[in-house]
Amino acid sequence: MRKKIVAGNWKMNLDYQEGLTLFSEVINMVKDEATGSQQVVVCSPFIHLHSLAQLVKGYTNVAVGAQNAHQAESGAYTGEISAKQIKSVGAEYVILGHSERRQYFGESNELLAKKTDTALANGLLPIFCIGETLQQREANEHFDIIKSQLAEGVFHLDADAFGKIVLAYEPVWAIGTGVTATSDQAQEIHAFIRQELAAKYSQQVADDTTILYGGSCNPKNAAELFACADIDGGLIGGASLKSRDFTDIVKAFN
Ligand code: PGA
Repeated sequence: MRKKIVAGNWKMNLDYQEGLTLFSEVINMVKDEATGSQQVVVCSPFIHLHSLAQLVKGYTNVAVGAQNAHQAESGAYTGEISAKQIKSVGAEYVILGHSERRQYFGESNELLAKKTDTALANGLLPIFCIGETLQQREANEHFDIIKSQLAEGVFHLDADAFGKIVLAYEPVWAIGTGVTATSDQAQEIHAFIRQELAAKYSQQVADDTTILYGGSCNPKNAAELFACADIDGGLIGGASLKSRDFTDIVKAFN
């Protein structure tokens, strides 16, 4: 059975102490909520990772992750952080291909394919983001965009390696805008993604892949989104910065 995941993406928010305080609250609130195959992941800025990883020791259903990693193993890349470094502080996940990285840092599918390989080679589990812009949706290109992001970003992986990937469908027009995809819109794309996975790999791989929805997910709309057959949880931005809201989203599974 595929994992159900609620992942927080703090983005470039919270100083060190604020992050620790928020995370302690979150752990206290969610430790008894996430059960069985359900997992809570918090993707923090790099500066928090080591301390957060210490705090999750002993909680099997809570993990931490980074929001980016460099494609090279190591070297002269001033200011960058490698997958190996992230793994070495106890993080388990890394978000790759977030639309903000694609948009502001020019990350292409080709680059993201390399980042994915390096992350996997170092034992990190990628949360690989895909999604169309408003313009692309209005031009009715959303299925083609999703298809090429998958084909160029992750379909070079063999089935074993692909089995470690979590996908996140995040329509760019819904991120941080307060506009959520309707559950029908989200489910339609999630079902399409699963169909693509079945065609590329197998029905088994398609059934086993966790596909998250992201984009203005909040305590009010989470239950309806998570109830959709092909939506296995959420990637939460703004609402992950408030322990109560984030916990309510985790509880929306139950
Ligand atoms: P949001 O962000 O929940 O604030 O819309 C989601 C994301 O960017 O992962």
